[in-house]
Amino acid sequence: MRIQRKKAKPKSKKLFIIIPFLILLFSAGLFGIYFLNQSHSRQTTAPSDEKYYFADSKYSGIRSKFVTRDNKREKVSIEYPITENEKINRLISESIDKIDRDFQNTVLLATVFDKPMTETIGYQVTHNTSEALSIVVNIKQDMNGAHPASMTQFWTFDKKSGEVVGLADFTEQSDEAAEAIMSAAKDNISQTIKQRQQPEIDLNEIINKEALSNFIITNNGNSLAWPLGQASLLPSSYGELTITVPISSVSKYLQNPTARKLANIPKPPEPKPAPAPAPAAPTPAPTTGNKVIALTFDDGPGPYTAHLLDILDQYGAKATFFLIGSKVSGQASVVRSIQARGHQLGNHSWSHPELPKLSVDQIAGEIDRTNEAIRQATGVKPSILRPPYGAVNGVVLEQLRLRNMSSILWSVDTRDWADRNSQIVCSRAVAGARPGAVILMHDIHQTSVNAVPCILSSLKQQGYSFVTIQRLN
Ligand code: NI
Repeated sequence: MRIQRKKAKPKSKKLFIIIPFLILLFSAGLFGIYFLNQSHSRQTTAPSDEKYYFADSKYSGIRSKFVTRDNKREKVSIEYPITENEKINRLISESIDKIDRDFQNTVLLATVFDKPMTETIGYQVTHNTSEALSIVVNIKQDMNGAHPASMTQFWTFDKKSGEVVGLADFTEQSDEAAEAIMSAAKDNISQTIKQRQQPEIDLNEIINKEALSNFIITNNGNSLAWPLGQASLLPSSYGELTITVPISSVSKYLQNPTARKLANIPKPPEPKPAPAPAPAAPTPAPTTGNKVIALTFDDGPGPYTAHLLDILDQYGAKATFFLIGSKVSGQASVVRSIQARGHQLGNHSWSHPELPKLSVDQIAGEIDRTNEAIRQATGVKPSILRPPYGAVNGVVLEQLRLRNMSSILWSVDTRDWADRNSQIVCSRAVAGARPGAVILMHDIHQTSVNAVPCILSSLKQQGYSFVTIQRLN
């Protein structure tokens, strides 16, 4: 013990000297870093009068870095946003620096200086939630003699991942959704141009998915916008222009988790809860313990119906298609194919109204016109009707009874129109499966059709087979 203590003594003496020395070294280092930082602008190749400083911005969680250069040749002021996400900061600063480098090159190459060239770059935050951040960077440059330039760069970011959210993410790659947003954007531009009494212009050449890929969220999460600088999409003579599309006008196309997470997407009206079927029109009940399931597809025929028929054939599955009468004659061959391949055809009204809101004559017309269209295409008259939104009343049921038809509702709603996601649709269908279940889907959505192989293979493994409504009992 004693020996060890003795031996330890010189060590602690050494430490006594080393520790203060390290502290001193560390402080000197810190001071050095601080000092270097202060004089950073003098260390780089940037012009000697570049200065910068940091300040809080008016936006929560965002600071600004200001960079200025002021001399005979140029007057520059740049405000960079500094968010809590490094990836976001890097993308924005790289984009600003690229523009600034071009400006500096112009300044360097210029020979005559009546007055300094000016560049002002600032930013605005238009949407700032825990999930999403939308930022517009405004760039104004005035190089003597040339036209002053006004440009913008803008993005919506997923705040957590730091990734840019593009239009394709927001519409989940749905062509239909992208088309709807593009057409709303074109309408908005046309309106603005009209108000400003500017000449009409063919927007089909100009507005496409790429042009609209980056967007910002504005208006408290209720609008999508594209703040266009001068000459960025439209000819320079049209000036600056912001395209605005209210989300409510396209919300039907934005029912997906990404869009819901980042903006305010109003839900479309819920289909009414299925009313109890009247005795005259019973929904087939699972009377047997047979492991059979009826897949039903509403609102077609559509562009994916033919592909769906191939999938069903591959699995030896039969299904029931509730068609919208007004769509039948235009796609008679696919309707014939549904019938020819052993599936059942049902009536889903002519124009998809809420039947109880119509007069008796109108209800009769919705049913009869559709029956007639299907009969003309296939030679077969449907014996079942699925009321749009599941909405029926005594008047509707009486009209069905007079025609020897039944109202068919469902026991499993995949809500595939809301979540355009094949995996979600598949797991809902599989989770709801029971012997005798009637599963509701819509073959007008590609994501729904793409969910079918997953549904069929999962449920087949559980011993289910797939039959028409007619064969369910
Ligand atoms: Ni429907």
